[in-house]
Amino acid sequence: MDIHQATGHTLERICSDPELEAAWLATVARLEYMGARKIFRTVAARYPSPDVLEHLAHEVGHAHIFSALAAERGATSALDETSGVVWFQAVDQAVERTVDTCTLPADQKLTLKYLGTTALIERRAMSVYPLFRARTQDAGVRDALDRVIREEAAHRRPIEQEAMRRWTDAGLSFEALFALEERAFAQWLAALMAASAPRIPCAETATAPSA
Ligand SMILES: [Fe+2]
Ligand SMILES: [Fe+2]
Repeated sequence: MDIHQATGHTLERICSDPELEAAWLATVARLEYMGARKIFRTVAARYPSPDVLEHLAHEVGHAHIFSALAAERGATSALDETSGVVWFQAVDQAVERTVDTCTLPADQKLTLKYLGTTALIERRAMSVYPLFRARTQDAGVRDALDRVIREEAAHRRPIEQEAMRRWTDAGLSFEALFALEERAFAQWLAALMAASAPRIPCAETATAPSA
């Protein structure tokens, strides 16, 4: 099973249970917020350009959309948020290490880090969201995903193209990072599958004689 099929399979399971789906929405909200925080900490640490502000507005908006959907559906916790954070940080730290191998001024490195992390994370998001949209039975979630996918598509291409151009100019390559991201994401998927496994009644309850 390739990563695309494994993603679809995991989402199929999550979307089969409204409680799990609500918890997954809370997880997605937190990851979107991590994306926004990455922008605040890098290219928006000082007053940013209109393009950066638009990207920031989109990501904060996505965190809000998913957070509100989760709350409306009664989510009490996120679904295996920890592994999601591990995936994001693995990518972010690998990007940092790669950019720190070059000898550019600090502000240019910050831009390369923002572009690198964004390109990798958003590429994954845009493979997950359409699969999520295809599997959810919840019309409100489908409508929200339509908006999120539209906005992600609007900022992803220009950012990815700029990332490729500026990384190449700096003598850096994404090759190893794509593979690293996929490995980290596969681990998150495995953790999500385990966290959303069907709940089997314990033997005692199942075999307890009726009174
Ligand atoms: Fe987003
Ligand atoms: Fe995005």
